[in-house]
Amino acid sequence: MGMPSEHQIQVERGDITRQTLDAIVNAANSSLLGGGGVDGAIHRAAGPSLLAECREIRRTTYPNGLPTGEAVATGAGDLPCRWVIHTVGPDRRAGQTDPKLLASCFDSSLAEAVRVGARSMAFPAVSAGVYAWPVEQVAEIAVRAVRSSPLMSDIELVRFVLFDEIVLGAFQSALAS
Ligand code: APR
Repeated sequence: MGMPSEHQIQVERGDITRQTLDAIVNAANSSLLGGGGVDGAIHRAAGPSLLAECREIRRTTYPNGLPTGEAVATGAGDLPCRWVIHTVGPDRRAGQTDPKLLASCFDSSLAEAVRVGARSMAFPAVSAGVYAWPVEQVAEIAVRAVRSSPLMSDIELVRFVLFDEIVLGAFQSALAS
């Protein structure tokens, strides 16, 4: 597995719900039943079928909720992408400060994308909002996890889609380093 080419990893400012890539990653919580931030935006744009699929996943696969650091794919309802990959970032407010937990969100989401056959995917800045992780740390962990993943031989494009200038800047710096 060689280093991914620099074309494979992009950084862009925007609303992840408008991405037309194969998959978008949702910064969910373990309930998978929606919330604020990007989770709320994705559920609003996807429509009720997404919540119905998440409820079914809770009933069949994750009765106790999706554990932090893990990822699970669903369809995308009315969104322009094909899959939503839900991952649960570590919550700094709850004392979850282990960088490996956050790196695992990116690794697990890549693995889930490969499993369903997605060739392109967009990530938000998982844990950089409500879960209160420092943006620079999220950017560094996210870029390193994607760059070092052997799964990048199966994924053509990973795009970090950031909602505001500060987070965009942090990811641009992380990618440039
Ligand atoms: N597109 C892209 N990024 C977005 C969007 C959007 N439409 N909306 C928000 N963001 C950004 C935020 O600005 C932040 O930089 O996503 C990043 C992650 O923030 P959160 O959505 O708050 O996610 P997180 O910090 O992981 O907290 C997860 O918040 O929304 C609840 O249900 C969710 O309980 C869970 C918690």
